[in-house]
Amino acid sequence: MSILVTGGAGYIGSHTCVLLLEAGYDVVVLDNLSNSSPKSIGRVEKITGKKIKFYECDILDKNGMRKIFKENDIDAVIHFAGLKAVGESVAQPLKYYENNISGTVCLLEVMNEFNVKKMVFSSSATVYGMTDKVPLTEDLPTSANSPYGQTKLMIEQILTDLAVSDKEWSISLLRYFNPVGAHESGSIGENPKGIPNNLMPYITQVASGKLEQLSIFGNDYPTKDGTGVRDYIHVVDLADGHLKALDKLNTTKGVMIHNLGTGVGYSVLDLVNAFQEANNLKINYKFAPRRPGDVVTCYADPSKAKKELGWEAKKSVVDMCRDSWNWQKNNPNGYDD
Ligand code: NAD
Ligand code: UFG
Repeated sequence: MSILVTGGAGYIGSHTCVLLLEAGYDVVVLDNLSNSSPKSIGRVEKITGKKIKFYECDILDKNGMRKIFKENDIDAVIHFAGLKAVGESVAQPLKYYENNISGTVCLLEVMNEFNVKKMVFSSSATVYGMTDKVPLTEDLPTSANSPYGQTKLMIEQILTDLAVSDKEWSISLLRYFNPVGAHESGSIGENPKGIPNNLMPYITQVASGKLEQLSIFGNDYPTKDGTGVRDYIHVVDLADGHLKALDKLNTTKGVMIHNLGTGVGYSVLDLVNAFQEANNLKINYKFAPRRPGDVVTCYADPSKAKKELGWEAKKSVVDMCRDSWNWQKNNPNGYDD
């Protein structure tokens, strides 16, 4: 029996493949490589000493996916494949709705055809919208601030409707907070195209000299030091949450929803300072105006995942900063080196 990992060549997918292989699963990866490099697959194989069956395929391509399901005995799907740039989704909403939503519907149809009815889905804390009710619990109302966020909400709804219509489905919706860090080997990590939008890759590229200066968006927020607060979570902890969710699907029908975060909020300045201390480096930064659409403070209540999945984040902010830098230092141009 194999686990199909869609988007398995990407940042979170590649780290999850490492843990799956180490846990003894057979892994099949489907990725169209629109935001990743096939080199990540080779690196995962090197870390684990095990093979991945890789298919370059799009989740919009039903025939391509049928071939994968025919050739492999798939037990469950971990569904990472999707586009994730919030700003781009505002500029090109149709691209996001087609790729993320139509793509997911195609995947679900093919899963139905092959009677594979277990899925772990990558949702996001973005589904909590602009709320200031922290820590965020899974039962809070949801809303979207961007077409990207809307795709996460809609897919959560589609999966919920599916599980109502057919009681054989077991579905895990994992709401990630802010994934950072990299595998401790420094050989796989986040590989953003162009100038990064997210804080940690921006910091590491300033540290390496690729970018000159970090702009901290807003220092007048109602937080302890005026900068925005987020729940940064090490990608290896996040990946481990998928294995715990997968286990749970074997004994649970219907839809379950869990936050994957640490439960601790760090400000932008906290993260910059932690990075400087962990790596003994100086980060050149300036304060800049607030970034439109940013929430002030966002961190999880992760207690439901602890209680129901037996999962909790173990790695510290120092681990996150050290491992992010280790990856960037070893691979200044990501997988292009
Ligand atoms: P990523 O871009 O590194 O990985 C996504 C992978 O999916 C890429 O390898 C890409 O090539 C592939 N892909 C995209 N569209 C596809 C398609 N139509 N067919 C086949 N493959 C396709 O991103 P990531 O950070 O690893 O994110 C994985 C998932 O987690 C995404 O669904 C993302 O929305 C979600 N998520 C990410 C974050 C984050 O901050 N990284 C936060 C919350 C949720
Ligand atoms: N920030 C800066 N300078 C930068 C980049 C970010 O100061 O160059 C600040 C932001 O203003 C924010 C914090 O760093 O206060 C974190 O920003 P990120 O862009 O790293 O992360 P976000 O919380 O804004 O976004 C993340 C994901 C989105 C997802 C969102 C909500 O990247 O995909 O969480 O879940 F929608």
